[in-house]
Amino acid sequence: MRIAHRGASADFPENTLRAFEEALALGVDAIELDCQLSADGELVVIHDETLERTTDGLGPVCAHTWAELRRLDAGLWKNERFRGLGIPRLIDVLDLVAGRALVNVELKSAEDVGRIERPVTALVEECGAMERVVFSSFHTEAVRGVRSVAGWARLGMLCQRAPVSAAMALAEELGAGCVVPRRKLVDAALVEEAHRRGLGVWVWTVNQPGDMRRLRALGVDAMFSDHPARLVAEVASSR
Ligand code: G3P
Ligand code: MG
Repeated sequence: MRIAHRGASADFPENTLRAFEEALALGVDAIELDCQLSADGELVVIHDETLERTTDGLGPVCAHTWAELRRLDAGLWKNERFRGLGIPRLIDVLDLVAGRALVNVELKSAEDVGRIERPVTALVEECGAMERVVFSSFHTEAVRGVRSVAGWARLGMLCQRAPVSAAMALAEELGAGCVVPRRKLVDAALVEEAHRRGLGVWVWTVNQPGDMRRLRALGVDAMFSDHPARLVAEVASSR
């Protein structure tokens, strides 16, 4: 699977509707996004826990209401021509995608653990997108929490450092379909062990064609890229 990481984020402002639309236009299989709770409980799509890097706002995302967040500019930091793009809500992204691709919802903030699992799964259920969303998080308690409130939820177990076996064991325990290791952790032994355990291997973040080729040769199941056009081209060339 070809997954656009934060949308087509190398060329467009990450985690905006524009970045997701551009990725969908390339024909990706999935998009990845980062989701957090606003101060008043809205599910918003932004990577950092603070606003400074990707918006013209200041301070923690969780300290602002949706009414405040929706007024911010999330495009200008990337380029003047993206002025006016805002922070989307998860519902806006699900509406945009409308079943055209899988959506990987990464639960980003430690602040949200224990609070985001119910609303995020409820929204996905209301949208009828249960089969089309995969939840993941570096916070294992958040993944556990999603499983405890939503037996139907598709889960991915993110892993940042070795040993990945620990993440694989947890993935099996929680019925997650895949492990989601960072690129540098992935070798033939990891892929073999995951597949033996019945788990997919989704690798982030893969931006160089040489790495895409190496990982495809290892038999990984999905790659996240900030350059989804490269991923689409790479997969097409080897079919
Ligand atoms: O989910 C894969 C990847 O997005 C994890 O890292 O920091 O880009 O959210 P990050
Ligand atoms: Mg992410």
